[in-house]
Amino acid sequence: MTYEYIIAEAKGRVGLITLNRPKALNALCDPLVDELGDALTEFEADENIGCIVITGSDKAFAAGADISMMKDFSYMDAYKGDYITRNWEKVKTCRKPVIAAVAGYALGGGCELAMSCDFIIAADSAQFGQPEVKLGILPGAGGTQRLPRAVGKAKAMDLCLSARMMDATEAERAGLVSRIVPADKLLEEALGAAEKIASYSLPVVMMIKENVNRAFESSLNEGLLFERRQFHAAFALEDQKEGMAAFVEKRKPAFKHR
Ligand code: CAA
Repeated sequence: MTYEYIIAEAKGRVGLITLNRPKALNALCDPLVDELGDALTEFEADENIGCIVITGSDKAFAAGADISMMKDFSYMDAYKGDYITRNWEKVKTCRKPVIAAVAGYALGGGCELAMSCDFIIAADSAQFGQPEVKLGILPGAGGTQRLPRAVGKAKAMDLCLSARMMDATEAERAGLVSRIVPADKLLEEALGAAEKIASYSLPVVMMIKENVNRAFESSLNEGLLFERRQFHAAFALEDQKEGMAAFVEKRKPAFKHR
């Protein structure tokens, strides 16, 4: 897979996507987001890939949507072109787990892209923010929706209205990121986490992802029912037999459906 604005490579069973537009701090121009969508689609279809990591550079995961590209947009350009929706949705719809490995700036659309992933591993250098208000716009790729779900209303309002940045420590305390690691260990940690996930039964991993996401879309009782049904369904999997037999026989499981 060869791209202009990203690098996509398989690292064992992990699909690694590196945003690679360093001169613009990985600003998310349409071609970059299209390439990201294509790479995710390829990794999702690739039987040898069990988990995906999206990362940027030491300085920036991504500094947001491309301001130069959209500065002269009319309402019709944005609406008719379905800006954001059209090509930004693939991270959300990908059925395999996607981890964001964030160092440096994750601002605006960059923060929103990270939040669209299943979880965020942050370098101690990470800075998160929704500074759109400074540009005379509002977040448009989920900032006003995913941020309050992740960190609560007070902090989400604060970040979106003040445009201030939140460092990795604050982001972890607030629940936006799952772990903080030293910047020089970020990729190693993220790939390690992804390899671990990719070693488990893929249908089970996909079910877990679907179930956790369901928690944000349903009442508690509906979510619990959905989980119970899928829990029951898991007993139809060969990998359930293998996982439990391996435990009883005190050996490592050899999952078939990876
Ligand atoms: N779009 C386009 N280009 C960008 C960019 C962006 N979002 N962010 C940075 N760049 C470019 C700069 O224009 C600059 O290019 P030149 O060298 O050609 O001038 C280059 O990247 C380096 O940037 P800086 O010189 O500004 O670097 P810095 O270290 O001084 O500052 C920064 C870093 C604080 C991240 C600053 O670049 C910045 O504030 N960027 C914009 C952040 C922002 O407002 N993001 C939200 C965008 S709108 C959005 O994302 C909408 C949405 O919800 C989808």
